[in-house]
Amino acid sequence: MPQILTRNQQHGFLYEQVVAQVNQMIARNTLCVGDRLPSLRKMSKQLNVSIATVMQAYVQLEGQGLVETRPQSGFYIKSRPVAEPSLPKPTRPLPLPRRIQFGDDISSLFSLANVPGVIPLGVANPAHELLPSKGLTRALKKVASLRPVETMSYCYPPGDFGLRRQIAYRSMERGVNLGPDDFIITTGATEALSISLQAVARPGDAIAVESPTYFCLLQIIEHLGMMAVEISTDPDSGLCVDSLAQALDTVDIKAVISVANFNNPTGALIPDTNKKAILDILAKKQIPLIEDDIFGDLHFSQTRPHTFKAFDAEGLVLTCSSFSKTIAPGYRVGWVSPGRYFEPVLQLKQLVSSATASIPQLTIAEFLRSGLYERHLMRLRRAYREQLEQLRLAVAESFPKGTRLTRPQGGFVLWVQLPRGVDAMDLHADALKQHISVTPGTIFSATGKYRNFIRLCAGSPWDEKMADGVVRLGQLAQALTS
Ligand SMILES: Cc1ncc(COP(=O)(O)O)c(C=O)c1O
Repeated sequence: MPQILTRNQQHGFLYEQVVAQVNQMIARNTLCVGDRLPSLRKMSKQLNVSIATVMQAYVQLEGQGLVETRPQSGFYIKSRPVAEPSLPKPTRPLPLPRRIQFGDDISSLFSLANVPGVIPLGVANPAHELLPSKGLTRALKKVASLRPVETMSYCYPPGDFGLRRQIAYRSMERGVNLGPDDFIITTGATEALSISLQAVARPGDAIAVESPTYFCLLQIIEHLGMMAVEISTDPDSGLCVDSLAQALDTVDIKAVISVANFNNPTGALIPDTNKKAILDILAKKQIPLIEDDIFGDLHFSQTRPHTFKAFDAEGLVLTCSSFSKTIAPGYRVGWVSPGRYFEPVLQLKQLVSSATASIPQLTIAEFLRSGLYERHLMRLRRAYREQLEQLRLAVAESFPKGTRLTRPQGGFVLWVQLPRGVDAMDLHADALKQHISVTPGTIFSATGKYRNFIRLCAGSPWDEKMADGVVRLGQLAQALTS
């Protein structure tokens, strides 16, 4: 029997267990298309859950297109779930130092994708509807009226104490107990990553990166005149420990960069045991690790994954993050916890941008202090999880035979392997002509790999336009297979 997309069984919300039950009944042909689902009351008795929980599950199944409501009659099976697509194979790049030469290619790729009216499957931005605009505006007004002098003054590095305290307060969730003085506020995660890299390596140095990895990391390495060494990854568990160990034995690697929690573009999550094993190896060689934890708060399971820093006994980890995926990318508030590299990172921050804008720092500190963040995150995680599920399902249904997909446990990006021979740059160009954006796979590699891969994003609410975009994308990909 084929494995079925019985999503979220492991996440433990009660309604998800009901969803899983129904999926199983469909898989075993106990329920067929056109059959009526057990009534809310009957299902609630059978599974010993509330009627509201069953209702939530049925509504979820309806949203997935598996179930339909018939007025005065109940819920009926509308279609069968699709077979779970295969995962892409683990990657096998040659771990050699490479100079990166993107030039302006990446900005030109995105200049047309970010235009209003384009179906945003290519850009990894949260849709504004999902961001906490009301709470943030309230916090902004409060800060502007009660602290006018601070809002107008420089807020010199390491940045606003209140904000650092709020970030430190949440560090326990990341598996580590840090204080406000362990953090430096930056202009987004991008600045945190760039100054961290400059603090630990020089032009010409080799930096180990996951393959595939977030293209901005490669751009920063290129801009700083460093070399990238691509390391194998698994689509589920991310950076491959053995491959990293082998590369460290053969290449003079000066630092490692990892998006360990819900990698961009694969969504992979490095398990704690692997994080610990990697840090043990790095500690022996005294090699620093820069982690980009920007998606860490967007986990779909009950608990937040730990950061590498949770296992860092030597101060070798520089954790970077921001509120760009969770609160507001335009506020440009990020941070770094640089461990033993605090002083050089602080100096670089002063040199590069003198200070981070005061109003966004004070506003986000107030928003965090009010307790609204956690409530907002709960909604956001649910939205991203559901949007990503819809996207996976739609791709599985619409894309050519042989397409492989990752199965992220957090974040909102999906890595799609197209059948061999389909050129993602052609698909990107054809899709743009139909006002659909996708990100071609080659920009996630230092050596132009992943030509038949694309990254899709589920940052926007799922609606007919998105669904139609995926169907048309599937048709375009199909046309490129011949
Ligand atoms: C993995 C990763 N790191 C960093 C960034 C950029 O963060 P910021 O906008 O805070 O500079 C992004 C944005 O897409 C990202 O995906």
